[in-house]
Amino acid sequence: MKLFQSIKFYLTSIPLLMLVIACSDLEPDITETSKVELIQSSARWYSRDQVAQGGLVFAANCAICHGSNAEGIAEDWKQRLDDGSFPPPPLNGSAHAWHHPNSMLIQVIDNGGAAFGGKMPAFKDVLEEAEKLAAIAYFQNYWTDEIYDQWEQMGGTN
Ligand code: HEC
Repeated sequence: MKLFQSIKFYLTSIPLLMLVIACSDLEPDITETSKVELIQSSARWYSRDQVAQGGLVFAANCAICHGSNAEGIAEDWKQRLDDGSFPPPPLNGSAHAWHHPNSMLIQVIDNGGAAFGGKMPAFKDVLEEAEKLAAIAYFQNYWTDEIYDQWEQMGGTN
């Protein structure tokens, strides 16, 4: 009987353990900046040149709000500010930019947040299409392969 109970325990705890491991995979270790170079691979839609160009676009237009490594600048990006708007989220894979396919990311960059009371400025007439894509490549290069795979499943380059 005892043996049976402990087998039962193992059988029920293993899937639970796997779930915990699977969930913790969603939290990339963003402190490990050395990963940035490593995760660039041919499996990604962008080239190294695009990441390099995107770095310049990002530094000049986005870093002031989203941080130079897309790590965000607010203590808690989920916490509304006094005026009811949200602070700029990190774009490095630790928030939820990876829930959106590229077409939607371009839309945010084009239109900013004005339509929903947000503070992000519109870049429609400020940046060329290639510059917007390069900026996206730049911050996606901080995403781990796990995050990148999830993003592909949620639409990816569509
Ligand atoms: C003045 C500050 C500011 C600047 C500059 C800015 N953003 Fe934002 N961004 C925000 C804020 C704030 C949000 C959250 C939505 C809102 O409130 O408008 C946001 C949201 C986003 C999102 C959506 C993230 C998500 O999790 O869904 C993306 C993508 C983004 N910004 C990309 C960029 C890029 C690329 C640039 C530069 C070309 C840029 N932003 C420049 C403030 C800024």
